[in-house]
Amino acid sequence: MGSKSPAFGPTQVHALTEIFVQKSCQLRDIWNAEIAQAELTNGKAKMDVLLWLNKATLDVIGLAGFNYAFNALNADGEENELNVAVRTMVGGGNNRGFFDIIRVFVPWLGFIQTKQSRAAADAQKSMSRIGHQLLAEKKAAVLAAAESKKAGEMVEIGRTDIEGRDLMSLLVKANMATDLAENMRMDDNDVLAQVPTFLIAGHETTSTAVTWALLALANHPIVQTKLRKELLSVDTDAPDMEGLSALSYLDAVVREVMRHFSPVPNTIRIANTDDIIPMDVEWTDRKGVKHRDIQVSKGDSVFIPILAVNRSKDLWGEDAREFNPEWWQNPPDTIHAIPGIWGNSLAFSGGSRACIGYHFSVIE
Ligand code: HEM
Repeated sequence: MGSKSPAFGPTQVHALTEIFVQKSCQLRDIWNAEIAQAELTNGKAKMDVLLWLNKATLDVIGLAGFNYAFNALNADGEENELNVAVRTMVGGGNNRGFFDIIRVFVPWLGFIQTKQSRAAADAQKSMSRIGHQLLAEKKAAVLAAAESKKAGEMVEIGRTDIEGRDLMSLLVKANMATDLAENMRMDDNDVLAQVPTFLIAGHETTSTAVTWALLALANHPIVQTKLRKELLSVDTDAPDMEGLSALSYLDAVVREVMRHFSPVPNTIRIANTDDIIPMDVEWTDRKGVKHRDIQVSKGDSVFIPILAVNRSKDLWGEDAREFNPEWWQNPPDTIHAIPGIWGNSLAFSGGSRACIGYHFSVIE
């Protein structure tokens, strides 16, 4: 993982944990205030948990990813431009009118503008303009830090030259390092292309996972009580990454949420070459021919059923469909065969295009 991207290794996530904790405390305070308010009126509080968690994880990825304050949790704060742009791009699919759907099937109608297509184009423009502005700021910070450190000397940029701990600063810093071979450098457009990727890959996935976790805890009061006891044993409101990782029952609950609910339930790969996938068990095709492998041709789409593997009775045993963190005390040997990047599960996928942010996300 470290070799895939230095910006997502344990050292970097350690530095970002403070942001996760700060935003979690802010959300806790908002929910407590809403509950207190509701108790005064009718005694019951009803909250859209996913909506609030979406705001919290957007704030986190803004600060951790780009040192950019979305301030989505600040209810009174004015909604900022990038926040509106992300919402338009993520929610775009839900707001489509009849004409937008027709355009998917009749591409030449693309020249006709709809309200939705105009909003998406505006969102893209905002994202691009703000992305350029952020990139220019980070570059200026790298140069300024290097110059102040080595005043009067020729500027050599090393990888430790700026304080910026956000992912974009790390990317810019690594990219501007003078010891980096020219053919390894990303151009500005490549760096900017990471902005929507991080925003979209890094925010709804995590808020969906936490929403499932809260539902599971509500449905399993014994698990909730046990977890609560472990969390209340922590004597600080601001644990660091090591402190969080040391909580063994929290770890089991997180692993079980990721296995049982897998927020990205499936994905697709396209075969780059012809190949043969060997099978554990024999299977029979439509013509009645038996096989011990699957032939894949270059260009074939391969569907990867993440959730189905994570809930497979063959791998996990008869109670595979139950939510049970206790499992992680003594997981079955069969799951070691699952080629996932984390936790003997496929939740973050596996191989060279596995989730780059899995460590970040688990700690968050
Ligand atoms: C519960 C949270 C998350 C889950 C379940 C999750 C899951 C996944 C999965 C399954 C993939 C592979 C998708 C595919 O190629 O078809 C992926 C890719 C990716 N994820 Fe995550 N992810 C999560 C959080 C995050 C976070 C927090 C970040 C960034 C901070 C992130 C950044 C990315 C990126 C950049 C990729 C593309 C990697 C590549 O193609 O090389 N993810 N994620």
